[in-house]
Amino acid sequence: MSVILITGGSRGIGASTATLCAQRGMGVVLTYNNNPAAAQAVVEQIQASGGKAVALKLDVAEVASFGAFTERLQRDLQNVWGVSHLDGVVNNAGYGLFNPMATVSEAQFDGLFNVHLKGPFFLTQTLLPLLADGASIVNITSATTRVATAGVAPYAAFKGGLEVLTRYMAKEFGERRIRANAVSPGAIRTELGGGLNSEFEALLCGQTALGRIGEPEDVGLVVTTLLSAESAWINAQTIEVAGGYMV
Ligand SMILES: NC(=O)c1ccc[n+]([C@@H]2O[C@H](COP(=O)([O-])OP(=O)(O)OC[C@H]3O[C@@H](n4cnc5c(N)ncnc54)[C@H](OP(=O)(O)O)[C@@H]3O)[C@@H](O)[C@H]2O)c1
Repeated sequence: MSVILITGGSRGIGASTATLCAQRGMGVVLTYNNNPAAAQAVVEQIQASGGKAVALKLDVAEVASFGAFTERLQRDLQNVWGVSHLDGVVNNAGYGLFNPMATVSEAQFDGLFNVHLKGPFFLTQTLLPLLADGASIVNITSATTRVATAGVAPYAAFKGGLEVLTRYMAKEFGERRIRANAVSPGAIRTELGGGLNSEFEALLCGQTALGRIGEPEDVGLVVTTLLSAESAWINAQTIEVAGGYMV
């Protein structure tokens, strides 16, 4: 059985991806930061449908914790699935912050950097020995890397860095047949950045060719596909999943 790790799997896009992966027969390790109850609810939903999932605490901004996290992960892989390797990693955990460049503080900048670029870099590095040859890495970026959106400059810049990093992962890990791709969502109905109000939603719908907001499943389906063998020849790509945002 394939087992994959999804960071930030307690809510939103990560939770949807976890559920869809389990429906496709993958084992799922999902991580949470502040919401253990939400993570447990995702695990129970997967188990109720006959799947296997585990939730682990992980703050992706805490690089110093990655070693202990990996040891715990190894134990769970062995105990729950009887395996010693991961078949995929989804660097999904993240948060939004609306603040114009003129007023962004150094602490806000560093916080976004740690979660959206430094964390995925060092978590992936730490997990490398645990990744099976032929595994799939999916990094969740953002359509704000293509379209400059008011108030999210550092967030978008670090997501852009993650897209570049994705190509380097593909290049450096290719000798082990490990693929790396980025999925770049447009506006998705989650609690990111406090969620959407009706006015903002109407604006975004008007800017989107398909005329609606994305749902977590719209993204989760693409991530799940990239984790699957049917995407074996897709590598080093960024796939925007945004319904035709600002085209
Ligand atoms: N929603 C959108 O419109 C949109 C658009 C483009 C890109 N994205 C990206 O998609 C990814 C998922 O976002 P979402 O919309 O699903 O957001 P969400 O519903 O707010 O969920 C965020 C998830 O990330 C986790 N998380 C946040 N900070 C963390 C940290 N420091 N360490 C570990 N986990 C952390 C949360 O865990 P806890 O709840 O347990 O704390 C939660 O599971 C993010 O990378 C986001 O930037 C979202």
